[in-house]
Amino acid sequence: MSTGAEAPTPAPQCPVAFPLRQPGRPFPPPEYAQYRAGPGPVRTELPSGTVWLVTRHEDVRAVLTDPRISADPSRPGFPKASRTGGAPSQYEVPGWFVAMDPPEHGRFRKTLIPEFTVRKVRELRPAIQQIVDERIDAMLAAGTSADLVESFALPVPSLVISSLLGVPRADRDFFEDRTRVLVRLSSTDEERDKATQALLRYLGRLIQIKQRRPGDDLISRLIAAGTLSRQELSGVSMLLLIAGHETTANNIGLGVVQLLANPQWIGDDRIVEELLRYYSVADLVAFRVAVEDVEVGGRLIRAGEGIVPLLAAANHDDTVFAAPREFDPERSARSHVAFGYGVHQCLGQNLARAEMEIALGTLLRRLPGLRLAVPTEEIPFKPGDTIQVMLALPVTW
Ligand code: HEM
Repeated sequence: MSTGAEAPTPAPQCPVAFPLRQPGRPFPPPEYAQYRAGPGPVRTELPSGTVWLVTRHEDVRAVLTDPRISADPSRPGFPKASRTGGAPSQYEVPGWFVAMDPPEHGRFRKTLIPEFTVRKVRELRPAIQQIVDERIDAMLAAGTSADLVESFALPVPSLVISSLLGVPRADRDFFEDRTRVLVRLSSTDEERDKATQALLRYLGRLIQIKQRRPGDDLISRLIAAGTLSRQELSGVSMLLLIAGHETTANNIGLGVVQLLANPQWIGDDRIVEELLRYYSVADLVAFRVAVEDVEVGGRLIRAGEGIVPLLAAANHDDTVFAAPREFDPERSARSHVAFGYGVHQCLGQNLARAEMEIALGTLLRRLPGLRLAVPTEEIPFKPGDTIQVMLALPVTW
C-alpha cells in the first residue's frame, strides 16, 4: 500500500444490503467470491457514509496493519453497523481497548499479554476441563435432551472467563445472569444497558475487595501491576467477558454440527483451526476508518472513509486456501484471519482454542450417543448480525 495513488477505474458499488450474511447460512455469502475476483475493494454506503469492503487475504492483512487506518469508532466516518444499535456506548467505557489506536492501545495490551500466553493457557486447562465436565454432568442430570447453546456452548466461555478474572463462585449466578442479558438477542437496549451498569458496579466492588485481599486471579494481578485505574480495570474485565463469549460459543456449536456430520474427525484437535477458518464467525467485527488517504488493493480510500475487512472472505481466498469451501482439518489453516491481524489480533485466541478443544473433545467422548434433534437446515441463526449467532442447537443423547 502507498499513499496518494489515484483509483485506476471507477469503483463498483456494492449491490446488496449490508451486512451481507444471509439469514440461516453460516457460510460466507457467494458475493464474497465475486468481490475477491474483482479489481479491488468494493464501495458501499452505510448511514455513517462511504465504506469499502475488503475481501482478499493480502488486502485484509494490509488494512489491519496500516497505521493510517484507525479502530477508533469516535472518528468521523467510522462504519456504523453495530450489533444492537446501542453498542457504541460500550466504546465509551474506560479500558475498552479494542476501540483504541496505538500508543494508547498498547498500554492495555502490554499489561494483559502475559495473562493469555500459550503457557498461561496451558496452566488453565484443568480449570477449563472442570467447568466443561460440570456442565455435562448438569445436562446428564437434567435428562436426555437439551438446547446445547443454552446449556453448554454459552455457559462454558463465560464460566471460564469469570473463573480467570476471580469472580467468587457464590457470585457466578449473578454474573452469569447479567452476562446472559448482554448476549441474549431478545434483550432490549435498555436491558443491556442496565446489565452493563450492574456488571460494571459489581466489578468495581470486586476490584476494591481484591485491592484489600488479593487472590490468585487476573484482576488481582492487574491491580498489582499498577498500570490501570480502577475504572479501566472494570472496563477491561467487561471487554474480556464479552469479547470471548458468543464467538467461542458459536465455534463450539458449529463444531458439534461438523463432528456429528463427520465423525471421522472426533478426537482430532486439528478440527479447531479449520472451524475457525471455515466459519469465521466474527466476520464483521474489525471495522476501521482511514485517517489519511491510503491505497488498498489498487483503490484509493480517502481519509474519513470507512473500511470493513471481511474476515470470512479472506479466509476463503483460494489463492491462500485451496478449495476453501471444503471443510478439511488436514489443511494448514494457521494463516487464517478469524482472530483478526495486527495490533488488535484477538488477545484471547489461545484461550479460545483451548476451550474449543476441551469442550468438543469432552462432549463427544462423554456423550457418544449425541445427535441433532433437528435437521441441520433447521438450526436457527440470527440474521444480519455482525457476529454469527446460532440461536439454539437442539440435541438428544
Ligand atoms: C473463537 C473465538 C474468538 C474469535 C473468533 C475472536 C475474534 C476476534 C477478532 C476478529 C478480534 C479482532 C477485532 C478487531 O481487529 O477489531 C478479536 C479481538 C479481541 N478478542 Fe477475540 N475472539 C474469540 C475469543 C476470544 C476470547 C475467549 C477472549 C477472551 C479473553 C477474547 C478477547 C478479545 C479481546 C480482548 C480483543 C481485543 C484485542 C485488542 O484490541 O488488542 N476473544 N477477537
